[in-house]
Amino acid sequence: MSVIEKAAKRLEELRRAGIEVPSETEQSAASSRFQSTADAALATSRALPSPSANGASVISKVPSSAATFFGLDLAKLAKDGFVTPDIPRSRIADEFRIVKRPLIANASGKRAQPLKNANLIMVTSAVPGEGKTFSAVNLAMSIATELDQTVLLVDADVARPSLPRVLGTPSAGKGLLDALQSKSFDLGRALIRTNVEKLTVLPSGTPHANATELLASDAMVKLLDEMANRYSDRIIIFDSPPLLVTTEARVLATLMGQILFVVRAESTLQSDVKRALGTIEACPVKLVLFNQARTVAQGAYGYGYGYH
Ligand SMILES: Nc1ncnc2c1ncn2[C@@H]1O[C@H](COP(=O)(O)OP(=O)(O)OP(=O)(O)O)[C@@H](O)[C@H]1O
Ligand SMILES: [Mg+2]
Repeated sequence: MSVIEKAAKRLEELRRAGIEVPSETEQSAASSRFQSTADAALATSRALPSPSANGASVISKVPSSAATFFGLDLAKLAKDGFVTPDIPRSRIADEFRIVKRPLIANASGKRAQPLKNANLIMVTSAVPGEGKTFSAVNLAMSIATELDQTVLLVDADVARPSLPRVLGTPSAGKGLLDALQSKSFDLGRALIRTNVEKLTVLPSGTPHANATELLASDAMVKLLDEMANRYSDRIIIFDSPPLLVTTEARVLATLMGQILFVVRAESTLQSDVKRALGTIEACPVKLVLFNQARTVAQGAYGYGYGYH
């Protein structure tokens, strides 16, 4: 049985079990680029009743279809300081509850002025090492624990991909760069579903000599547009390169609905922050995340987050 057939069978089983699933018309409306095993699996996963609705864990032990699947080591992630769905009451989880609220509200269209591509959120900074990947992963994890939000975390730092190092996901394989190189590439094939039911990862893909140019290309503009519309019910988070070191991050920024701009406390120069913010003026929503700030409550050496 092909993987598509398996996904179709799974949908039929869910229908028979009285669970609402996307209609055939809805499914066929998806652009061909996204019609794939993994995508069908994502549709299936959306249709499943949320396990967290009754307070149960949002960690899925068994993937609901034959999609590419990777089991994240949640214990290691928690040990490394990341938000994980099985530990909802940690300080980092509380901090990211505050961080995600306005982003989700904007993405859900709860604004007086509608926001284009509001579900596309770029996590960037002025210079390297300010905590972009740390923040992108935490934001994705935190949003994935919401009852009605699904998240796609994209490794858009294509020159120096970090998600395999942090999440343990495979470092080789198809991803964003493959989709940018070939119009016929089926992006769904590259998606990695995880044991956090509502979290899917798109790796950076096959290394390419002109990776940074690809990221700033017309193909990227088209792909983002497609992603924003095809996955309009999903928040898409881009772990991105720093703004002052690369040019593609600035191009990417012009296509995003929202930007989370990470500033490392007591490290990043004020002039760099100002210059970097100047490069993303066009983006309608910019939130600044003050990373590793000392707080009085935590004592002189504590770390924390804050909005500014
Ligand atoms: N709030 C935090 N608490 C603890 N550790 C943190 C925090 N923020 C960042 N770090 C650590 O600092 C290091 C750099 O962070 P990270 O890799 O997220 O930065 P980056 O901006 O993505 O860097 P690059 O520009 O190289 O991609 C990592 O080891 C990360 O785990
Ligand atoms: Mg990084």
